[in-house]
Amino acid sequence: MTVMTAAVRKAARAVQRDYGEVSLLQISQKGPGDYVTAADKRCDKILREELAKVRPGYGFLTEESGKLAGSDPDHRFIIDPIDGTTNFMHANPVFAINVALERKGELVAAITYNPITDEMFMAEKGGGAFLNNKRLRVATRRDIHETLVAYEVPHRGGKGLPQSRAEIGALQAKVIGIRGIGSAALALGYVAAGRFDAFICRNINLWDIAPGVLIVREAGGFVADPDSEKSPLETGNILATNADLLPQFKATLKGVGDSA
Ligand code: IPD
Repeated sequence: MTVMTAAVRKAARAVQRDYGEVSLLQISQKGPGDYVTAADKRCDKILREELAKVRPGYGFLTEESGKLAGSDPDHRFIIDPIDGTTNFMHANPVFAINVALERKGELVAAITYNPITDEMFMAEKGGGAFLNNKRLRVATRRDIHETLVAYEVPHRGGKGLPQSRAEIGALQAKVIGIRGIGSAALALGYVAAGRFDAFICRNINLWDIAPGVLIVREAGGFVADPDSEKSPLETGNILATNADLLPQFKATLKGVGDSA
């Protein structure tokens, strides 16, 4: 965790500088597109270099660099240098730097860090989840009718748009409110902190959710595939909430949008 925290803090300094630049560029005609891609790659490189210095044998799976095998087959870091890239591109401060560590295929340590708000969500397997130094617990609401839900819709042209629309319709009939914040990683951190009662997203990449899955579990929450007993880390479909609400959300989503 010490190694991961140091790497994330170093990468964060570069991302903070790039965010300042993006804030200036995003109102220009051309927009900051290329600059954002460069910022993503820069952050990815710093994280990989810092982590490899201290744990040279570990492998990597990163959004920017793909799979990089290490000499140690038991360990790999899963990295999304900037989750919430579209927000970042619009100088919207809802994005995060993400690192998870897998040991023998199991998530054992995780960090999701928003360098603009200085909120670091972190967890170690068996050691609880924290936001900076504060212990996290998921919300304890027991009735779906009292919930605030984070639901990520696909980007324009993205997979599963009709299904998302149908699911939002079904949820809207029951929950108090639905938000899409544009960062799956932060939405999971918010569930761990009780800011959302649930998070739902489909067709999401492993690096977007790996840290948040451990953080939610260590905050006492449950993470499941909405439609099956499989792991959301395999299917890319995720429902994160507390034990009482899990069956209620599963029942609400069951079969919705199947024909969409
Ligand atoms: C995106 C975010 C967003 C989700 C998208 C992802 P990126 O990740 O997690 O919340 O709705 O599906 O692609 O591209 O910003 O790392």
